[in-house]
Amino acid sequence: MGEPCPATPAPGVTAAIPPKDVCIPAGFTGLTLDYFDDYSWKAFVAMVWPSLYGSRGIPDDQRTYVGSGARVFETFKPLWEIFHRDGSPPASPDFEQYEAPLHNACQARAGYGDMVLGSDSGIHDIGQAGDGGLLGPLVAQNGTYVRYLNSYNEIAFRHLESNKWYLRKALPVIPVPRPLTPPVEFPNGAIVIKSAWIETEGLTEAQKKRIYIRMAIVKDPGTGKCRRTPVGLPGIHVVQKTPSRPQWIWSSFEQVDLVPPAEPGGPGKFLLNEGSGVPMPSANPRYLIPLAKPPVAPFNVERSPNVPIHPQTMETNAKYRKLLAGSVWENYQLVVTQWPLAPGDQSVPVKASQAGDIFQTFPGDGATSAYSNLALETFHQARPAQGCMNCHNRARLTADFMWSVQMHAYPEQIGLPPIGPSPGQGAGQAPKKK
Ligand code: HEC
Repeated sequence: MGEPCPATPAPGVTAAIPPKDVCIPAGFTGLTLDYFDDYSWKAFVAMVWPSLYGSRGIPDDQRTYVGSGARVFETFKPLWEIFHRDGSPPASPDFEQYEAPLHNACQARAGYGDMVLGSDSGIHDIGQAGDGGLLGPLVAQNGTYVRYLNSYNEIAFRHLESNKWYLRKALPVIPVPRPLTPPVEFPNGAIVIKSAWIETEGLTEAQKKRIYIRMAIVKDPGTGKCRRTPVGLPGIHVVQKTPSRPQWIWSSFEQVDLVPPAEPGGPGKFLLNEGSGVPMPSANPRYLIPLAKPPVAPFNVERSPNVPIHPQTMETNAKYRKLLAGSVWENYQLVVTQWPLAPGDQSVPVKASQAGDIFQTFPGDGATSAYSNLALETFHQARPAQGCMNCHNRARLTADFMWSVQMHAYPEQIGLPPIGPSPGQGAGQAPKKK
């Protein structure tokens, strides 16, 4: 056992290593929100820490979060390096190595810190997440599509690689009766990231100053050609499997200029809203199939007034943003931490046999605070059952909550959006013209 956990969390941005677990004092039986939010921020800071030059997944502890260059999470293994389109194994179990260019959608040679945004189909990096499938796209105010990238840290990658879970036939068959714990289980310390990216063309200088920007090789959905272009980070999910929370801890961050209200000192424009007061459509008006060529007319995104960011989370955000002042990371905010709930002493680890459904997670059924990320699950604000864990819980037994394993294990099984209107989500797929 290490140090006892402090009664009130101690915000700090000095550690380059992600916390191993949430720190809750023994005997605490109340709402653990502040502890989880503090954990989330520390995990975030570790993920955006500059990485050790030339290596993967290792923070450069000689520098601070202000340093430049590839961030720790940007050196994790993205899906294309793990799930090859022909089911062939990753070239090496070695996390450091980069896979050959033929495996990514741009056939680009990738080395330290490089990032490729694109998919063979041209839609799989653009569709928003649905239940084991993809939904309509998000269009930023500059008329470009928001892109998504999933990536695995070394612990998660090695486990997946050694079990050959990039092959569907290697994934365990779920026996009947269904087991209590997932036959596929990732080890503690496994971290999986989903990041969202926006092309920066057309953004004002004031906007660009406040969002984290890097270069990426981006496949254009219109032409199918790839080019190097700067991209910004509007949102990011960080999930970690921890000793006390085998259902993973789910943390989600947004850049603060996505939607109104404007922040003091903000750029006067929003990345996902034109600021005209036109309300957000109740369903996504854009189709994934067929995908219109950019530039595409954007629509307004808003945070539902029914589920604002929890006021206590906002307090923790204020503390961390102050600590991060002077770096671009001060312009990020924690939207939600989701975790499995069990009654009693909250410092006691939750059993792995517990599911991640809405009734056993924060913020739970009847949630009055945010449970989705505006840049990643834009249209999932209407029902608490649309939160992170309840959706990922459907992949619990087959893939230990990891949708991307269940979907991308060879041969791929990716649900495509329904044709015609479906409430809350929009059509996704345009109805066929008669
Ligand atoms: C409606 C269902 C749904 C909701 C809600 C949802 N996700 Fe996901 N998520 C997915 C799907 C589907 C994928 C995989 C997409 C792919 O691989 O193409 C995914 C991918 C991820 C990944 C990459 C690892 C994996 O499972 O593939 C992370 C991390 C993640 N989501 C975190 C979150 C967090 C945090 C939230 C809440 C703020 C959230 N998700 C909400 C469906 C959902």
